[in-house]
Amino acid sequence: LPLVIGLDLGGTQIRTAVMQGAKLLSRVGLLTGENPSPDRVIPRMYDSIYQALQEAHVTLEEIAGIGIGAPGPLDSRTGVVFAPPNLSGWVNVPLRDIFVEKLQRPIYVENDANAAALGEFMFGAGRGSKEVVYITISTGIGGGVISDGRIIEGISGTAAELGHMTIDWRGPRCNCGNIGCWESISSGTAIARRAHELIALGRGEDLLTFALTHQEPMSGADTPSDVNRAQRNAIHINARMVAQAAQAGIPEARDIINTAAEGIGVGLINIIHIFNPERIVLGGGVAQMGEMLLGPAKRMLQERAMKVPYQSMKIVKAELGSDVGLIGAGALTYYNR
Ligand code: BGC
Ligand code: NA
Ligand code: ZN
Repeated sequence: LPLVIGLDLGGTQIRTAVMQGAKLLSRVGLLTGENPSPDRVIPRMYDSIYQALQEAHVTLEEIAGIGIGAPGPLDSRTGVVFAPPNLSGWVNVPLRDIFVEKLQRPIYVENDANAAALGEFMFGAGRGSKEVVYITISTGIGGGVISDGRIIEGISGTAAELGHMTIDWRGPRCNCGNIGCWESISSGTAIARRAHELIALGRGEDLLTFALTHQEPMSGADTPSDVNRAQRNAIHINARMVAQAAQAGIPEARDIINTAAEGIGVGLINIIHIFNPERIVLGGGVAQMGEMLLGPAKRMLQERAMKVPYQSMKIVKAELGSDVGLIGAGALTYYNR
């Protein structure tokens, strides 16, 4: 296989590697930055590419293609990034053209989760199967669908925005503006948001106590009764802490995790009914919570999903771990050649 570059543009990190197949010859991680507008981030993306080349002792001319995975919605054919809910400041950015002009190499732009799906399909847990759905549950929820060995792209290249399927049409507001999206119910952000809401309303005192012992001491606040309203709103709590609190047996935390888990179950039922996949590959930090989250989701599937598509599929963990987006982005060159 020829040498390629993969670049995974995330909300917190730009990860870039020179690779051959799934083998990374170098690896660079730069911060995306607090204010990720294109004019700040794109130069950093170039830097990461030059650094990755230098580390691998490879020249740009030796690279067969550069694949970029980015949050969507975006059009994978034209390489235009529309207006991703989780990448503020980006509106209709012609990412592919910008990179082609600068680097004079073949450039492939794809939704990060679609790219990850391709990575698992070619080199990971989806190998040997032509019907693969990849789902990443982390800050957001992303999805990629491989059918008959091809990435489903849709008419404008935005297909498989699985995180924005409606799970609860009366549910919470999503970052994308819609209501009750999967991402607004089962992502890490959603879990943290629920915890925040409870604490702010004074209905999560045990959770608050737990949170207090897991952060910088707040001046004069050791127990929930010391914590004033402003401090309640400012409390730092993320999905991992809620998961730990649930594990420690705190009922409010368990409820929150359970709600997210049931949301995952509903999403998976929809996916099974729509795509009849052979493999569902789960990636992303939240998915790593394991049985606490997947247990209730799987029970729901067993009880509610149609028998035949349920029995034909297997849920597996992503094999490429945190490199899945990177390797998937690199794989775009192989896929498109
Ligand atoms: C975006 C997807 C992306 C996912 C994970 C979602 O909010 O709409 O395109 O794949 O986040 O980054
Ligand atoms: Na997608
Ligand atoms: Zn949404």
